[in-house]
Amino acid sequence: MLRPEEIPAHIGLRRTVMDETTPTPADKNLKHPAEKAPRVFADTGTIDEIRPLLDAGIIDGVTTNPTLLKRAGASSWDMAKKMMKDIVKLLDPYPVSLELIELTKDKMIIQAEELASYGSNVVIKVPVGGYQAVDSSFDKHTGLKVLNVLWKKNIKTNATLIFNSAQALWAARAGATYVSPFLGRLADYLYKHDEVEMPVGNSLYYMEDHRGKKENTKVHNTAYVAAGGARKNAGIRLIHEISVIFSNYEIKTEILAASFRNDVQVQESLLCGADILTVPAPILMRVADHPLTEEGFKAFNEDSKAFEK
Ligand code: G3P
Repeated sequence: MLRPEEIPAHIGLRRTVMDETTPTPADKNLKHPAEKAPRVFADTGTIDEIRPLLDAGIIDGVTTNPTLLKRAGASSWDMAKKMMKDIVKLLDPYPVSLELIELTKDKMIIQAEELASYGSNVVIKVPVGGYQAVDSSFDKHTGLKVLNVLWKKNIKTNATLIFNSAQALWAARAGATYVSPFLGRLADYLYKHDEVEMPVGNSLYYMEDHRGKKENTKVHNTAYVAAGGARKNAGIRLIHEISVIFSNYEIKTEILAASFRNDVQVQESLLCGADILTVPAPILMRVADHPLTEEGFKAFNEDSKAFEK
């Protein structure tokens, strides 16, 4: 968990810049106490995972992607579209991110308009890059161009597969409504490569090993430090970096922290300035559980039996 001195001080500033997430209706005297609270989405294509979370008021949005829809049982694009339509209808008016699968600008825009027609709560998910990794003849800036066209067409977007703050800034400048930094994948990648010798950068730093053992303290180069220093925290530090940049420049694109691996990342990304968290349902179902709450409730329940007549 982050130490208190590591928690950034800029988040208050960012929240003042952002719109209310839970506005108080005009007819209410009691102002909603969490009007600028971060929002929580479920990261899933499975409608049965969404329902209990929605009923409990835990989530106010959903994000999907082709992998999640395939995992939920879609074996054709038509089937995936039907599943997406059902989720959009269930969530209305809360936002649902639907990812484009076309790979060229004009086709992506046509597909975005089709998906956006499912409901006014649809947000179009656009991969920020990687097009040339699929086909070297593709335009590497396709994602940014599509984001910009969709902004001009008043269609909300979610720039996905963000792994550094420059990608987040380019996406925001293109007009993205949300940017999705993949904190878990980044942490996984860097953790896996932890023992690999890094090429020497311009500066060397002594960094304590992520296991916190003095004997493992090594000299690391700037690439290591820029990636987040203690690598297990790299994803969280990415959220922190983007939120500092967006706060300093009053950028209203929302930071949608994605790719969660554990409960601690949920709490740390809130401490670092995420505006929205999109979290797999199993983590959401358990993250607010606590054994002491259970023990305490059982004791209260036991003692309340003394009042029975
Ligand atoms: O929302 C993005 C998310 O689905 C990616 O998560 O677990 O595949 O890294 P993951």
